[in-house]
Parts: sequence; structure tokens; C-alpha cells
Amino acid sequence: MTTTTLDVAAIKADFPLLGREVHGHPIVYLDSAATSQKPRQVLNALTQYYEEINANIHRGAYHIAEQATTAVENSRAALARFVGAPETTEIVFAKNATEAINLVAHSWGRTNLGSGDVVLLTAMEHHANIVPWQQLAAERGVEVRWIPVGDDGHLDLSDLDHLLDGVRLVAVSAASNVLGTLPPIRWIADAAHAVGALCLVDASQWVPHQPTDVVAWDCDFVVFTGHKMCGPTGVGVLWGRSDLLDAMPPFLGGGSMIRNVTFDGFTPAEVPARFEAGTQPIAEIIGLHAAVEYLEAIGMAAIRDHERDLTAYALRTLSERLGEDLAIHGPNTVEGRGGTLSLAYRDIHPHDLSQVLDQHGVCVRAGHHCAKPLMAVLGVNATARASLYLYNDEADVDALADALVDAGDFFAF
Ligand code: ALA
Repeated sequence: MTTTTLDVAAIKADFPLLGREVHGHPIVYLDSAATSQKPRQVLNALTQYYEEINANIHRGAYHIAEQATTAVENSRAALARFVGAPETTEIVFAKNATEAINLVAHSWGRTNLGSGDVVLLTAMEHHANIVPWQQLAAERGVEVRWIPVGDDGHLDLSDLDHLLDGVRLVAVSAASNVLGTLPPIRWIADAAHAVGALCLVDASQWVPHQPTDVVAWDCDFVVFTGHKMCGPTGVGVLWGRSDLLDAMPPFLGGGSMIRNVTFDGFTPAEVPARFEAGTQPIAEIIGLHAAVEYLEAIGMAAIRDHERDLTAYALRTLSERLGEDLAIHGPNTVEGRGGTLSLAYRDIHPHDLSQVLDQHGVCVRAGHHCAKPLMAVLGVNATARASLYLYNDEADVDALADALVDAGDFFAF
């Protein structure tokens, strides 16, 4: 039986790591929400940069420096296309999504927010979309408020009108890294704009898995990271509306982000250079371009369809094989959820569970997933999380189910 139109066997073959064994078993990689594996096309792009055009960018006037600069700017253009950004200059490279949110909190936040202003978050945010706002709150007297999560794993938006009172920014995840929940981003952005607030979207768990259109979302800032979308670590992206970015002061100071520096001070460069201080992760930016082209060639809509079907298969299979011993946090249908499955299995501690699964070659993440407020809502300290991506198939889900059955036997004594 097949649940997909993707040629998953051919896709798997693109990822060298997926060919290895762990503890005598073929690896079953189910931790792409933490980081994805990298296809050979991305690895080749990294090697090719270092072997052929390794030079610093936006500086040298020699041939390979110009080639490296062009390669970085081509990556920026590809990312703009990939997320539907109206302007290539609206794409700012950062170290990761965390740094991109910190950029907005430091630059836009410290320029525009003060005592009495409210930042509205959701209870399912990753710490990356919580702590920068709590730091701002501590420093500036800004209030942090929360949209609750209902028992069904969806945001409880019933009191949103009331929660939006005094709000200047709504910062929301497009896909929960714990529950897989996909909140209605356009609807939330519209509600934010109706009260004069901006909307920042943490799309770290969305962009790798679905077609992205920042204009259709009608939001103001979107952040995501390269390493979860088949790209290298060390590079993330901030998209921002150009009128907002143009009005924002620099975040980090240093080389490349200035127009002029004198003994008395500096004038900042135009966007995006203003926000890209110091030598950038050049190889990683070029590798991310290769990742974008890889995903585009397969097709983001096809990837979404594959993951939706595989998630339905996983929900059904795990329920049939494990019965009531297994609980899956979050929405229990594929509507409104992605392929991130946080598991509670009997009373087995998630760390113990993940160690037994590892003995079967099955890689899942155990822990609080950098979402401790959500853990408090769920009433747990941790979960064991399996997360699906384009290179997973029914056999991977079956291997997870087999390993869970074995773990149940193991901990029965
Ligand atoms: N944010 C990543 C995760 O959820 C690391 O696992």
C-alpha cells in the first residue's frame, strides 16, 4: 500500500545519512522537527563553494569574490521567490530563526514598544518566540499576554477580541513544534491589523513542509531556519515588509552594515546589509539555495500532500498497534495539523522511551522541545516526539510502531 505520489525511495537515496545503520538497524530518522537531513545536492553545493569560489562577499573586486557575492545574492532571490516575498531586499540572513526574532525584538521592539504596550503570544510558542519578548518586557515594561491552547490542541481564539486590547504585536507560530497544530495565520494577522498591531510569524516548522506565501498571510515579519528545510545549520531568514525594515535601526554593529564610519559615529547601510553585520555564513547561504531548489523540484504542494497522507497513516497505525496505551498530544485529525507527533506511552518516561527506540535505530526527540509553557498546559515535563518529512514513508512509521511495542514489553517487567 502506498500513501504518496512522491518517489520516497528515490528521495531517500539523495540523503547519504539515511543509508547508514544504527545499532545494527537501518536508521529510521523521525526527528526532522529538530533538524532535517541534508541531500547530496546541498552537500555538493557546500563543497563546491569551498573548492571553487571561497572568498568573502561584498568586498573583493576579484573574480572568485564576485562569484561568491553573486551566489549569495542568487540565494537571497531564490528565498524571496520561495516564500512569495514581493522584494528580494526583504530577505535578511540571520544565524537561525532565533536570531531573526531577536533582531525584530531588539530593533523594531526597542524602537516602538514601551510601558503599557502588549505583545500577544500563544501558549504553544517555542522559547525562541517567548524569551526575546520576555526580555523586552523586563527591560521596557511591555506586557506579554497569551492566547491559550484548548484541549483539542488548537489555539483557543474565542476571547481574541479581548486579548487584543492594547496589543502592538502578535507573535505566533505557523506550526507548533510539539503538537503539529497549524493555526489560522491569515485570520490572526487580520485580527492583529484590525487593532493596529503587527503580526510576526515563526514559520520554522512550516516553511520546510508547505507552500509559503507571505503576501497571502498578510503578515509583517516571518522567520524560519535553513537546517529544518534540508539546508545547512548556521543560516536562518527574516522576511519583513520593506517599509518596516527600512525604518528599523541595526541590530548588530560591525563590518558591512554601515554606509560610513567616522571618529564620531556611523551611518547604517541600506536594508538588508544593515542587518547583516560581519562575515556572513556564505557557504551555508549557498547551501540553502541548493535546498530551496531541491524542495522546489519535488514541489512543496506534493510534499504537503505526502506528509498529510503519511500523518494520517501514522495516526491510524499507532492507534491500531498501541491502542489506549499511547496518547498523541495535539489535534487528532490531519486537518489543521502537520506531521509532528508528540507521544505519551503508558507512564514510560520519554527519555527512557527514546533510548529504547534508539536501540531499534529509530530517532525521536525526547524532552520539553523548548516549549516549557506548553508542557505546563499539557501537564507533562516532556514528550517523545516523532516528526515526519518528505523522506519518510510507511515503513518508517511501521518501524516506530514495532519499536514502541518492543518498548512496551521491555518496560513491562
Ligand atoms: N526547535 C527545534 C525542535 O523543536 C530544535 O526540536
